[in-house]
Amino acid sequence: MLYQNNGGNKIPVLGLGTFLSNDEEILTNVLNEAFKLGYRHIDTATVYKNEHVVGKVIKEWLLSGQVNREDLFITTKLAPSSLYEDRVEEALKTSLENLQLDYVDLWLIHMPVAMKIVDGKPVPQPTDFISVWKKMEEQVEAGRAKTIGVSNFSISQIQRIQKIAKIQPANLQVEVNVFFQNRELVKFALSQNIVVVAYGPLGNPGMATRREGLPSLFENEVVKKISKKHSKTAAQVAFRFLIQKNLVTIPKCSSAERLKENINIFDFELDQEDIKSLEGLDRGDEARVFDMSFIPGLVDHPEYPYKK
Ligand SMILES: NC(=O)c1ccc[n+]([C@@H]2O[C@H](COP(=O)([O-])OP(=O)(O)OC[C@H]3O[C@@H](n4cnc5c(N)ncnc54)[C@H](OP(=O)(O)O)[C@@H]3O)[C@@H](O)[C@H]2O)c1
Repeated sequence: MLYQNNGGNKIPVLGLGTFLSNDEEILTNVLNEAFKLGYRHIDTATVYKNEHVVGKVIKEWLLSGQVNREDLFITTKLAPSSLYEDRVEEALKTSLENLQLDYVDLWLIHMPVAMKIVDGKPVPQPTDFISVWKKMEEQVEAGRAKTIGVSNFSISQIQRIQKIAKIQPANLQVEVNVFFQNRELVKFALSQNIVVVAYGPLGNPGMATRREGLPSLFENEVVKKISKKHSKTAAQVAFRFLIQKNLVTIPKCSSAERLKENINIFDFELDQEDIKSLEGLDRGDEARVFDMSFIPGLVDHPEYPYKK
């Protein structure tokens, strides 16, 4: 495994994502298999409603003595419904209870917009993430989070936090894949020593609400050619591309076979020609999978991060 320096804490460059991992039995099996294969970095979130499953499996592995807490890198995220300064501490304590942990390695603001849940649906609210950040810093000081960061933030939103931060954001989790390389934001974050975690590294091919017309990694001729050249799969080429661009990535999957395939990426390297060809696949904003526009009122919110 390779690592990056996440605010003084080692983050494995490949982790396991758990968005839409809602079936307890499947996720339990996936996590057990992942730990066996050497995954040590798990990405969850309060809104995924699976922290308790992640916690249960981690506890078993820690109790069995097969892994130490220091070898694990566990990320969770502050839900939009808790994006208020007076809810921050309670939200982390609840996550830690679910995860059965004393601390998380990384705690992220899930997105820069607070939401109220009305009749089961998210409704965007006036938001002050600066006051929230100050409360998150207190959680680092209390030892409940090793590092803190943001997800789905724009450059100017990160800069507003940087201006007031006692503890700088260590990490930015955003969508990046071969078709949506998110270049300006990634370049900015890396220039600030902020680790970038690429979510949706495959463009989430299985997501039911995925927009029609988005490009497919698995049908792309450039990717096919590079896969063939290295005798690797399209997914392996996609992860290798991200890692060689100095990113961390967290593909989600539901089978032992894919878990194995996805971690089997440390025995080959893309050359400059491959990287150049893959860079050429970038389609910019039109290939963004996660624009969150399905949430009524979000696109018009002053803190909507993807304004064009
Ligand atoms: N911060 C945020 O707002 C945010 C947003 C989105 C995602 N994330 C995080 O990032 C993680 C990854 O993103 P994602 O889950 O949306 O998308 P993704 O990792 O790009 O795609 C996951 C999909 O790819 C399939 N897959 C996995 N490995 C494969 C392989 N080797 N070959 C073919 N298909 C494969 C999975 O299928 P099976 O499950 O059927 O195996 C699943 O349908 C999430 O799980 C979550 O932890 C964060």
